[in-house]
Amino acid sequence: MMAPTSVMTPPISIRLACLQDVPALERLIPLSVRGLQSAVYSSAQIEAALGLVFAVDRQLIRDRTYFVVEEGGAVIAGGGWSRRRAVCGGDHARSDEDDASLDPTQEPGRVRAFFVHPEHARRGIGRALLLECENAMRAAGFFDAVLVATLAGEPLYASNGYVVLERETVPLGGGLDLPVVRMGRHLGGRDGTP
Ligand SMILES: CC(C)(COP(=O)(O)OP(=O)(O)OC[C@H]1O[C@@H](n2cnc3c(N)ncnc32)[C@H](O)[C@@H]1OP(=O)(O)O)[C@@H](O)C(=O)NCCC(=O)NCCS
Repeated sequence: MMAPTSVMTPPISIRLACLQDVPALERLIPLSVRGLQSAVYSSAQIEAALGLVFAVDRQLIRDRTYFVVEEGGAVIAGGGWSRRRAVCGGDHARSDEDDASLDPTQEPGRVRAFFVHPEHARRGIGRALLLECENAMRAAGFFDAVLVATLAGEPLYASNGYVVLERETVPLGGGLDLPVVRMGRHLGGRDGTP
């Protein structure tokens, strides 16, 4: 287990997720989404996106690039990064193209699938997960990071140096879509910049 991140005091800790965490993550994600996105999305958008856009990506867990945050042995948050092309969504119906590996010297790493339990929001957990992911991406040789943020996630990333690259929508079917925002930041290195 990794040392607790400084912004969070024990007994909160971050560790790499394992496949045994999937049931806890499948319980957490709907709670997080329904509890923390209601100011920015309608309930119809949220329910349509659950399971499609907001779902567990086991590939991240298998790649050892997904973290969970625990308090008292309970999973209260999850978030990760990826060395693969996909920028969002669960692992169902993933195409080979989405699964393809990125070249860290040429392409940005992906920040992926951040979900915090509503009772633990605004305690610095999202920020701590993001720092953990960025450190891991740097260690894997990435110089840049991109992500597709929900409108609920945008303030977290904006407050951590990410800039808006593009606003777009994810089609949800049934005439619904989900406004999201593609964001990115330089992680440092290569050209000498911090
Ligand atoms: C987005 C999310 C992961 C943020 O997690 P969090 O642990 O609450 O975020 P933090 O406490 O680390 O916030 C760090 C900073 O981000 C910004 N921020 C985070 N949430 C914010 C909000 N709702 N409104 C305004 N600013 C916010 C603030 O600057 C905050 O610092 P502060 O609390 O000192 O002001 C969480 O809201 C969540 O799980 N949302 C539902 C699922 C989702 O949409 N995930 C994003 C996928 S891209």
